[in-house]
Amino acid sequence: MSTTPPNKIIIAIDGYSSCGKSTMAKQLAAQLAYTFIDSGAMYRAIALYFIRTNVNINNQDEVKTALQNIKLSFIWNERTQQSDIYLNEENIATEIRELSVASKVSAIAAIAEVRSFAVAQQQAMGKDKGIVMDGRDIGTVVFPNAELKIFVTAAPEVRVQRRYQELIVTNLDISIDDVRKNLEERDYIDTHRKESPLVQARDAILLDNSNLNRTEQLALVMAWANEKIKDN
Ligand code: DC
Repeated sequence: MSTTPPNKIIIAIDGYSSCGKSTMAKQLAAQLAYTFIDSGAMYRAIALYFIRTNVNINNQDEVKTALQNIKLSFIWNERTQQSDIYLNEENIATEIRELSVASKVSAIAAIAEVRSFAVAQQQAMGKDKGIVMDGRDIGTVVFPNAELKIFVTAAPEVRVQRRYQELIVTNLDISIDDVRKNLEERDYIDTHRKESPLVQARDAILLDNSNLNRTEQLALVMAWANEKIKDN
């Protein structure tokens, strides 16, 4: 008996910062043998380049020139069993998680030229489907026709705790108030910006994971994914 491989789909995961989107997207991609792309890492990489080279974000010419000098790629890391993001051949996967980048990235991700630069590359990555991408505008702008869209949310204090636990491992000086302030600022900019603000797509499923552990969450989203793959 021959088995036809199921048709691959695109899974778009959007939501606020520190809702566990990337963890969920990564697990989902591993289970389905799909490619996982963390689109936020791309904006963080661009932000890191802008910080390092002192780009004046209010100067359009400087922004355009800087973008021309940026090459982003994702390369599989055998040791950690995940993809690391590279900026012009340099592995910056760890550096982009620092608060110095987090505090600048939302303003940089709000620039129209930066968004079209990143979106074009994200759309190219999804041309053969079989991809799970997480971000803020994946279901609304990058893949408006994605077969499965999930909008993730969690209670603000749950998100603060999660991000704090993540950051304290590498930065013992960090305070919970710094983390809270950064999340509040990023939420505000992400939802109020003119270019592709964070909104739930009309056809996205809302997932509040405040009271779900990773295993429960994965079981839930895998069921949704399998349903869509079957119907596709
Ligand atoms: O998911 P993250 O926290 O790593 O994202 C970093 C920033 O990038 C976040 O403040 C919003 C922005 N972002 C975006 O505007 N669009 C995306 N698709 C992904 C991230």
